[in-house]
Amino acid sequence: MSLRVAIVGSGPAGIYTAEALTKQAGAGVEVDVLERLPTPYGLVRYGVAPDHTSIKSIAGYLRRVLELPNVRFLGGVEFGRDVGAADLLGCYDAVVYCTGAMVDRRMGIPGEDLPGSVAATDFVNWYCGHPDMPADRFVLDCPEVAVVGVGNVAVDVVRILAKTAEELRATDVPEEVLARLAGSRVRTVHMLGRRGPEHAKFTLKELRELGELANADVCVRQEEAVADVTGLPRQVRGNVEVLRGWAARDPAGRPRRLEVRFWMRPVEILGEDRVTGLRLERTRLSGGRVVGTGEFETLPVGMVLRSVGYRSVPLPGVPFSEETMTVPNEAGRVRDREYVAGWLKRGPTGVIGTNKSDAAETVRTLLADLAGLARDPVRRGDIDALLASRDVSPITYREWLAIEAAEAELARSLGRGERVKLLGLAAMHAASGR
Ligand SMILES: Cc1cc2nc3c(=O)[nH]c(=O)nc-3n(C[C@H](O)[C@H](O)[C@H](O)COP(=O)(O)OP(=O)(O)OC[C@H]3O[C@@H](n4cnc5c(N)ncnc54)[C@H](O)[C@@H]3O)c2cc1C
Ligand SMILES: NC(=O)c1ccc[n+]([C@@H]2O[C@H](COP(=O)([O-])OP(=O)(O)OC[C@H]3O[C@@H](n4cnc5c(N)ncnc54)[C@H](OP(=O)(O)O)[C@@H]3O)[C@@H](O)[C@H]2O)c1
Repeated sequence: MSLRVAIVGSGPAGIYTAEALTKQAGAGVEVDVLERLPTPYGLVRYGVAPDHTSIKSIAGYLRRVLELPNVRFLGGVEFGRDVGAADLLGCYDAVVYCTGAMVDRRMGIPGEDLPGSVAATDFVNWYCGHPDMPADRFVLDCPEVAVVGVGNVAVDVVRILAKTAEELRATDVPEEVLARLAGSRVRTVHMLGRRGPEHAKFTLKELRELGELANADVCVRQEEAVADVTGLPRQVRGNVEVLRGWAARDPAGRPRRLEVRFWMRPVEILGEDRVTGLRLERTRLSGGRVVGTGEFETLPVGMVLRSVGYRSVPLPGVPFSEETMTVPNEAGRVRDREYVAGWLKRGPTGVIGTNKSDAAETVRTLLADLAGLARDPVRRGDIDALLASRDVSPITYREWLAIEAAEAELARSLGRGERVKLLGLAAMHAASGR
């Protein structure tokens, strides 16, 4: 009798887990991948920047896993709403939670909740056409914007703000979002690091891309680009060299300007009923900690995009550490027959590929735990019957392919690239042929 496993979440972690199960357990395993959205691939679809088409093409690899004969995709099924842990444990031998890290971290400064102070998660969801985010959520009507954080997400956000809509036309950005980007009044984007260039989290390849923007000058202050890089990794030295190069460059008079700042931390978002400025304090390190110097500066920005990291949300009935914002586990084991992989397991760091080895570890633990376990078919419930009894009709892989085909058709009809995302659940359901 086959081992039956439910995976919750169809991002890279979920799909790599399915792949590892089929590789490590062979034909003796049946896998269902449950996903709250009608569409698979998690942040590969709704996170990776639309202009990073080569990275997005990883979906082609993930698709092959969903097409394996012993793997099923069950879209539109939300853990915590449609099914719970007890339901899944009644229908499967094991459950692997792979729901990622869906929400933003907070900065904890005054003004953070003013209109115009926005989580990068929301902005990313918007330009990626996530069904949780309406197309009219953002109006880019202010000339200056601050992006807090110097990680790769901040670099993505800054790049999308700096590019012209024409440069993004061949991407899958929804048509309504593209129109709003075309109407953007943003001229200056400030990207803010609270520590030095040698501490920035962005990677060299992503940083370099900013220097190649056709529509924006990148400006760095000489005094902020100074860093002692002796003994630091090659990537870090590379970042600092690139930034120093930019500091020595004169602006070419391009329509937009990107100010990359270091040693500046936000202390207050200003404004009465919406953001009108961002107050910064110059910083330095003291005993390894960031401390303020008492020297302040105010940026006249109308929007603050907080790109200071993601965090996972607890799943009902599943252990969760508020301290690490992850599901406590030992090599992927949460407790009897429950496992975790991906960002929910180790926090919101690492590239897509990191989730592959991470998933493989979880699967090794799972298979070792379950080896030789006597599985009694009589005790096993049927997920299809359970979902039907709750009026939940999962989106099948075939229906997802119909959504994909509709997106390709939309792109053709608009004379755009390979696909243009459909906006909203209703449009996706209609395209799925329901
Ligand atoms: C903005 C952004 C851009 C990125 N760009 C890159 C890049 O260019 N290159 C790169 O290598 N890495 C990139 N990364 C990192 C990469 O996306 C992550 O490493 C990876 O997606 C984490 O995989 P995951 O499966 O753990 O989470 P996710 O990809 O977030 O997948 C989680 C899935 O679970 C689903 N889900 C959530 N809750 C439930 C529920 N209750 N019930 C059912 N399903 C649920 C979600 O809808 C989602 O599909 C980026 C990350 C971000 C945030
Ligand atoms: N192209 C790609 O490969 C790609 C694209 C996007 C994302 N990703 C990956 O996805 C993961 C998440 O990326 P991310 O950018 O969200 O997170 P990240 O790499 O952790 O960067 C977060 C940034 O926010 C800063 N920050 C945190 N709290 C702050 C505060 N209170 N005030 C000011 N600044 C603060 C951090 O500074 P400190 O260092 O000082 O804390 C850091 O610069 C990363 O592993 C990333 O590499 C990869």
